Amino acid sequence: MFCIAIALLLVLVVDGHQHYFSRRDPLARWVGEQSRFARERILANIAPFAGDSTAMAGAMCASPSHSRPDYYYAWTRDSALVMNEILSWLDDGHVDGRLDIALDSYVGFTRHVQSLDSAVYGLGEAKFHMNGTVFTGSWCNAQTDGPAIRALAMMRLGLWKTVRSDLDYVERVWWRNGGCDIWEESRGLHFYTLMAQHRALREGTQVAQRRGDPVAERYLEAATGIAKLLERFNHGVVVPTIEWSGGLDGKSDLDTQVLLAALHFTEVGEKYSVESPVIISTVLAFLRRFEPMYDINRVAFTDIYGVRVPVGVAVGRYPEDVYNGVGSSRGNPWSLITSALAEYHYRLALAYADSEELVVGPELAALLQWSAPYLNNGDEALDSLVSLQSYLLAVGDLYMARVARHTGRDHTMYEQWNRRTGFGQGAIHLTWSYAAHTAAARAREKLVEAINN
Ligand SMILES: *[C@@H]1O[C@H](CO)[C@@H](O)[C@H](O)[C@H]1NC(C)=O
Repeated sequence: MFCIAIALLLVLVVDGHQHYFSRRDPLARWVGEQSRFARERILANIAPFAGDSTAMAGAMCASPSHSRPDYYYAWTRDSALVMNEILSWLDDGHVDGRLDIALDSYVGFTRHVQSLDSAVYGLGEAKFHMNGTVFTGSWCNAQTDGPAIRALAMMRLGLWKTVRSDLDYVERVWWRNGGCDIWEESRGLHFYTLMAQHRALREGTQVAQRRGDPVAERYLEAATGIAKLLERFNHGVVVPTIEWSGGLDGKSDLDTQVLLAALHFTEVGEKYSVESPVIISTVLAFLRRFEPMYDINRVAFTDIYGVRVPVGVAVGRYPEDVYNGVGSSRGNPWSLITSALAEYHYRLALAYADSEELVVGPELAALLQWSAPYLNNGDEALDSLVSLQSYLLAVGDLYMARVARHTGRDHTMYEQWNRRTGFGQGAIHLTWSYAAHTAAARAREKLVEAINN
């Protein structure tokens, strides 16, 4: 398999650079227009921009949908992820005064939530009402990734006291196996949650050390303990949950929360970073599994501004999923996860662009080989691609084009796409769907820059 991929790569080393980019123009245009829409739509989900006078400033709804499904709540995880994404827009030089207002308000909302002592699950409460009160209905609680992700955002803002509240909580609870996973279904120790906590406590240790805060020692000890636990998730592919203790049962070991964790919480060279062999193998396992599952995956092309563009596989949360966006029947592919696949291939390419030492191992060779027929479906001949980076850009673009196909002309994103019809389904204007798109778009931009230099 390895030799085949090397041969494949040699074939790629031919002229055709300009040709490739000119063919990609419609997709690049779509990505830009979708990003502009996404930024507006994300702001429209954050009070005070949300047009809801009862919402507390800085509260971000997961979706403006109030019923079927009711996602009109401020989820700690979703909000923190999206705020980190907004911080990355600013890092990339994006200027918009409304973003500063949104961030300031979010800090205020965070301090408010941290001060609520009535919350049964403390900072691990999954979600709050938009007016800043505790949601007291029954829910899969606690969810302990949220405070960790929020701490990452607060560290970027340099707000140590706010960071301390969240990290002190995480440091107390990370070892408990009763908490819920990001899909709010299963109890145990979860890969995504622990990866978030590990990253936050590691960064927190460094900040504490710089500030001479003795809490550094406790954070370091917790981070070390989590690192040890994380070893146990590697079963050839990375599994989502160990020490299962309740909730949804009967899941196989494939769950795309692993992909999201690699994207959200790792940098190149770490144990479960995007280019690590076990993560590559896990991603390939998802693709193989999801490809035959959804009718819409039989479509190989889409039309983007009048140009025929090949599309990749649409993927969902995990193969046994039955949540259809409103209730239970059959699971569907998700917008944010398919965007994450695009981001994954761009980031993989960037890892190779940034490091001279990385070689194409058998796992990556297998992924490249698996993807090749999708590219061949297009007008894009494989031999028009000049390098591993260009090749991975083209593969990432397959997933980007898949998202474009199901997003529709008015740019509205949903949580899911119906597995048979491909139309948006479940929560409309899901904030995370838009943030996953802009994250993929940013990675794409960096990659195109790296290739052109
Ligand atoms: C906050 O919003 C919830 C949900 O709409 C509502 O039940 C509750 O009464 C509100 N609380 C306050 C103090 O406004």
